[in-house]
Amino acid sequence: MSGDARKTAEGLTYLSGFGNEHSSEAVPGALPEGRNSPQRAPLGLYAEQLSGTAFTEPRAHNRRSWLYRIRPSAAHPAFTRTDNGATRTAPFTDSVPDPNRLRWNPLPEPAPGTDFLAGLWTLGGNGDATQRTGMAVHLYHANSSMDRVFSDADGELLIVPERGGLLLRTEFGLLHVEPGHVALIPRGVRFRVELLDASARGYVCENYGAPFHLPDLGPIGANGLANARDFMAPVAAYEDVEGPVEVVNKFCGNLWTATYDHSPLDVVAWHGNHVPYVYDLRRFNVIGTISYDHPDPSIFTVLTSPSDTPGLAGVDFVVFAPRWLVGEDTFRPPYFHRNVMSEYMGLVEGAYDAKTAGPGGFVPGGGSLHNMMSAHGPDQETFDRASAAELKPQRVDDGLAFMFETRWPVTLTPQAAGAEHLQQRYDDVWQGLERHFRPLR
Ligand SMILES: [Fe+2]
Repeated sequence: MSGDARKTAEGLTYLSGFGNEHSSEAVPGALPEGRNSPQRAPLGLYAEQLSGTAFTEPRAHNRRSWLYRIRPSAAHPAFTRTDNGATRTAPFTDSVPDPNRLRWNPLPEPAPGTDFLAGLWTLGGNGDATQRTGMAVHLYHANSSMDRVFSDADGELLIVPERGGLLLRTEFGLLHVEPGHVALIPRGVRFRVELLDASARGYVCENYGAPFHLPDLGPIGANGLANARDFMAPVAAYEDVEGPVEVVNKFCGNLWTATYDHSPLDVVAWHGNHVPYVYDLRRFNVIGTISYDHPDPSIFTVLTSPSDTPGLAGVDFVVFAPRWLVGEDTFRPPYFHRNVMSEYMGLVEGAYDAKTAGPGGFVPGGGSLHNMMSAHGPDQETFDRASAAELKPQRVDDGLAFMFETRWPVTLTPQAAGAEHLQQRYDDVWQGLERHFRPLR
């Protein structure tokens, strides 16, 4: 924690727009004009391309950036294996996939000196990182800033803070993220996490698949849901540090470490569309019914990672943001259902309208997993209340919940399946649902 870091975070300026061809230079003249790799890059910098998609992917999906840096990324010593800590990677084969509805309390307090990487704890996931399919759900709980640098070759990292602000120092520049906002670090981008408060806690979706993009809007039209202009990329900022810097690389499920003789956050200028960004979830334009029935929760999709099947996401990031409920003759909370997709839900603050809040319930920092075809929906108390409620317009503004919804079942890590903070009696929330059936005679 540092007052300087908070001051830095709060003074940041950004480049606006999702997927834009941004460009930025921390020193005037550092970006070459008219070409990517001139014979001699300006100011004695090295030119380097970072590819987030294959060279030949269609233009609409292609992601790459050009970096102009003090030293090329290639200038590093050999990586050696280091402790994976509590991080795990798909394929997850150490547990049997569990059809039960599961819910966890928040992660326990970390030991003193736990940084973001050491505090990263894998709940489970699916697919195979080496095949670039599927995803993992992680939580983090940290009480110390990183003095090392991390990058993830296995996937992009969608960071959803629940407690404590973060300053992300990335190769592309600095990002500030607080609870209620999210940050995305693209695959392979190096970064360091500094804490802006005494501790930090939250969720991470590691997406092994195609990079997240904004969902198509169909009949909604040209605007709505998450608007492209609200995604903020950093401006170039670099460290000119000569001296030992530990760099940790997550590669095919293992952590590897090398001690560089300089900081790799030494990018003086860059341009491209493979960039980190932050987004304020309260900017989400929530769309719902103005007649009857609760729309399918896909209406709340912020970002989606497509699969090879149109409309079938590897993973969707969905937010339940403050909104009005006005449906007539409608059971207004999310309906009972069984879903071929698997749903991990987390809570950033407050309460979720289908579950009772409070200790032992669905609490901020906790999470629930409703795996493929598991039956779920409002708990008994919510059902009784919503079935009897007077249907006047109602503002739902007491919480911020989200979901990572994924095409395949989520298999738990043994540490999640056997966690002390796994709630033992989650099924009970549906046990009080009584029969009301009265056949007509
Ligand atoms: Fe659901």
